[in-house]
Amino acid sequence: MGDPPGAATFGTPAEAYDRHVGRYSRELAGALIHAAGVRPGHRVLDVGCGPGALTRELVARLGAEQVAAVDPSAPFVEACRRRLPGADVQLAPAERLPFADAAFDDALAQLVVNFMTDPRAGVRELQRVTRPGGTVAAAVWDYAGEMTLLRRFWDAAVALDPSAGDRDEGSMPFCTPDELAGLWSTAGLADVRVSPVVVSARYDDFEDLWRPLELGVAPSGAYAASLSREQQIDLKAELRRRLGVGQEPFRLTARAWIATGHVPR
Ligand SMILES: C[S@@+](CC[C@H](N)C(=O)[O-])C[C@H]1O[C@@H](n2cnc3c(N)ncnc32)[C@H](O)[C@@H]1O
Repeated sequence: MGDPPGAATFGTPAEAYDRHVGRYSRELAGALIHAAGVRPGHRVLDVGCGPGALTRELVARLGAEQVAAVDPSAPFVEACRRRLPGADVQLAPAERLPFADAAFDDALAQLVVNFMTDPRAGVRELQRVTRPGGTVAAAVWDYAGEMTLLRRFWDAAVALDPSAGDRDEGSMPFCTPDELAGLWSTAGLADVRVSPVVVSARYDDFEDLWRPLELGVAPSGAYAASLSREQQIDLKAELRRRLGVGQEPFRLTARAWIATGHVPR
């Protein structure tokens, strides 16, 4: 099976990611860690760590020696290693985790399941490396609904270019509570729960939101960067109109779904 279209769009510099969707990652990481029941003394794996937003929160709570992380993007792994010395950060996909069975108390994946080449195999791997009784947990955006930035972005893009509908992240798999719960239950996880969380990010002004999109990061940025200059100007104006923001600072909210389940004893 080939990579889903989005997976290839994370080979960009970490700083571009930080300024785009990465703005929401730290607050989301706190919510995911809480939902997963991570406790001091736990050894935890961050799958699809990106530049390390969740990894950083885990290191702050547990100590670097208790944290491992993987991602298939070389620039992200390099940034995560640089930012979090002492954590075990490796270049690997979720579907082939370089760890022994039951090596962790918890395995977490933040904004990753929908980008996996084979989500079922990925979740099976998260389960394999987690001890019996441990937690496998993930967060995904509510792309089709209340992830404001990305929903408005794709609505604006499709309004101007109906063919952008093929790239709209709102139709990605495993981004609804039912699909996510099904993925967790089918993997054989117990006590499966899916709950919403709303986080937010601050922007200095609309330019602050738009600039990282031109750097090509994530499916939204890759689409924006693929447009001609004239098309970019039109999309920028349409997105700004739909968000109703301008030169003043503003905040946007973003809803995610968090799935948790326990590895059967
Ligand atoms: C939206 S980013 C999330 C990064 C980070 N977890 C965060 O919350 O900021 C998606 C990440 O999934 C990674 N990814 C894509 N395919 C993957 C796979 N098959 N296994 C693990 N990670 C994958 C990408 O390289 C990227 O770092």
